[in-house]
Amino acid sequence: EVYILPDEDAIGEAIADRIQKVFENNANANLGVATGSSPLPTYRALAARVADGKLSFKNAHFFMLDEYVGIDEDHPERYHNVITTEIASKVDVDPANVHGPEGNAPDLEAAVKEYDQLIKDQGGVDLQILGIGSDGHIAFNEPGGSLVSRTHVGVLTKQTREDNARFFDGDLSKVPTHCVTQGLGTIMEARELCLVATGAGKADAVRELIEGGISALWPATIMQMHPNAHVFVDEAAAAKLK
Ligand code: F6R
Repeated sequence: EVYILPDEDAIGEAIADRIQKVFENNANANLGVATGSSPLPTYRALAARVADGKLSFKNAHFFMLDEYVGIDEDHPERYHNVITTEIASKVDVDPANVHGPEGNAPDLEAAVKEYDQLIKDQGGVDLQILGIGSDGHIAFNEPGGSLVSRTHVGVLTKQTREDNARFFDGDLSKVPTHCVTQGLGTIMEARELCLVATGAGKADAVRELIEGGISALWPATIMQMHPNAHVFVDEAAAAKLK
């Protein structure tokens, strides 16, 4: 399903509506959260609804998509800290129930397997919020990777490191070289996917996502195989759709 909405606030409210419906049916549901700018309007809408008493995450677990490897525990760009700042601290989720792949584990290969297992043990993700990179990546699954991968250690592309250098004093040498990320196979197991894309920079990725064939060159296209996937775009991101 593709929804072309007037602006990011309308998108945030529309996704918050879907999340609210999930939690009305199951107060213990699990929410998949993403970092980046795309989910921020959704997070604002969720915080407002929790403040108004319309929604509660008291019994929820949040599962993050990805994390840098080797980043300081208290670095503001550590994704766990970003999620705390942008959403977890603004709603009533128990901080102990906010989970992410562990980028500083002594044994990363064991840690990524444990993360997939934790998601399974908690009953799976009910609704996953997603952004999309201009190259079609979701989470840190860059073009050319496996379409069925599990949570894994990945190498950040030069492009992604350059894009993110602005968060590290503009100094490329401070940007981590590796990440841990849910794989596309892991993400596809969420029962519902809600992807946000806004702005002209996402128009090519949105065209491939909606109208292209499924290809590892555009990782998000695997979502075409998902039975309950929703894509929310503004006019600029939809501009290249036929
Ligand atoms: C976020 C993530 C990334 C972003 C994507 C879009 O956890 O893994 O895939 O969703 O890079 O970023 P924004 O929303 O900042 O354009």
